[in-house]
Amino acid sequence: MDDVKAAGLIIKEKIEPSEIALVLGSGLGVLTEEAQGKKEIFYSEIPGFAKSTVPGHEGKLVSGEIEGKKVLILSGRIHYYEGHPMEKIAFMIDTLAFLGVKKLIITNAGGSLWKKHKIPSLMLLKDHINFMGANPLRGGPHFIDMSDPYNEELRKKVKKVAKKLKIKLKEGVYIAVSGPSYETKAEIKMFRKLGADVVGMSTVPEVIAARKNNQDVIGISCLTNYACGVVNKPLSHEEVIESGRIIASEFIKLIKGILREVF
Ligand code: HPA
Repeated sequence: MDDVKAAGLIIKEKIEPSEIALVLGSGLGVLTEEAQGKKEIFYSEIPGFAKSTVPGHEGKLVSGEIEGKKVLILSGRIHYYEGHPMEKIAFMIDTLAFLGVKKLIITNAGGSLWKKHKIPSLMLLKDHINFMGANPLRGGPHFIDMSDPYNEELRKKVKKVAKKLKIKLKEGVYIAVSGPSYETKAEIKMFRKLGADVVGMSTVPEVIAARKNNQDVIGISCLTNYACGVVNKPLSHEEVIESGRIIASEFIKLIKGILREVF
């Protein structure tokens, strides 16, 4: 708690706090450019914040207004596969809670498990499967309820907004793996049987931390590629980034719509 407070106080000196925060996935950092009256602080200036080593993740916390709503943007996230402990990921979310963040839009790039999905396209997360083999709350607090990880009321509103904006927004279950290698064909086949729709290497640690803090979460996956074996093509991070670039305008439109009409 002391560490969270120390980080929070330093952040407050440089940027504006807000009730709403966005966590941006691979290749989706472009949203930051939409913020008016931007102020920013680099993760390297915040005690306890780690810098991402992944291309497509910037590494700064930005405050500003989008659609007249004050937001904080975690532009660049850190991942378990980079070698960071889960607690370090949760620490960023806890710091946002200290700064007054009550609602989070958590985004990611993910591989679609189904051929019927268009690539790239957007998916609203309705639930997740934690297949990472770790949990950020190990050591406590224990037994946090996870029955509504992606707030149902907010999801209803997001679907209405998407419809109004004529954005095809699928809904599905995210399965999180530790990475950093992509999955095998056999793993993807298994994930389909487990009830998952999209696979990725992030989001779940942040969502678990957020639920512990009683923060409400909207989760959005950008389906940047077909998961291994869905089509006969090798996977690459370049494809993920390129898909992010292609879907950027639709993604921005949806997030703006959510900020305008849901929050
Ligand atoms: N698998 C895991 N993580 C991902 C993928 C994928 O296919 N695409 C983007 N992130």
